[in-house]
Amino acid sequence: MDSVHTSEIAVTVNGAAHTLAVRHHWSLLDVLRDVLWLTGAKRGCDRGECGSCTVLLDGTPVNACQALAMRVEGREVLTVEGLAPAGELSPLQQAFLDEDGGQCGFCTPGFVMATRALLDDNPAPTDAQIREALSGNLCRCNAYGRILASVRAAAGRAS
Ligand code: FES
Ligand code: FES
Repeated sequence: MDSVHTSEIAVTVNGAAHTLAVRHHWSLLDVLRDVLWLTGAKRGCDRGECGSCTVLLDGTPVNACQALAMRVEGREVLTVEGLAPAGELSPLQQAFLDEDGGQCGFCTPGFVMATRALLDDNPAPTDAQIREALSGNLCRCNAYGRILASVRAAAGRAS
C-alpha cells in the first residue's frame, strides 16, 4: 500500500486488539466492513444522516461513516457483532427480535447500538428520552412503533 497516504493504527474492536494499515481517507466504516469484515454496521447514506452505521466509540454512539479511521487510533470500538461474541443474542438484541423491532432489518444494527448507549447511560428511559436518543437513526420501513416497543422491552418496561 502507498505509504505516503497510509498510516498504521492500533485499535480495539469488540475486545480484540488490531494493528491496521489504513488509507488516510478511509472512514471507520470502511475499515469495519472492508478490512475486518464486520458487516453489521450498514452503509446507508454514507454522509451522517441515517444512523445505520452507528457503532460505539469509547462508549459513545458515532456514525462510523463520518469518523476518519486514523482518528480511532488507541480507542475502543464496539459493533453489533460485539454484543453477541459467542453467537448468543444479547438481551437487547433479543428484545428487538421479540418485539419485531425490525422489518427489512437494514437499520436495526444502528438502532441496537444507539439503544445500547442509551441504556448504558440511562437504564430506565422515558419514551421522550428514547425518542431523543434515537433521533439520529432513520428507518425507511417506518417501524418506529415497534422499535420503541423494543427499547421499552430492553429497558424492562411493559409499555
Ligand atoms: Fe453513516 Fe448513514 S451510513 S449515517
Ligand atoms: Fe427496514 Fe428499518 S426495518 S429500514
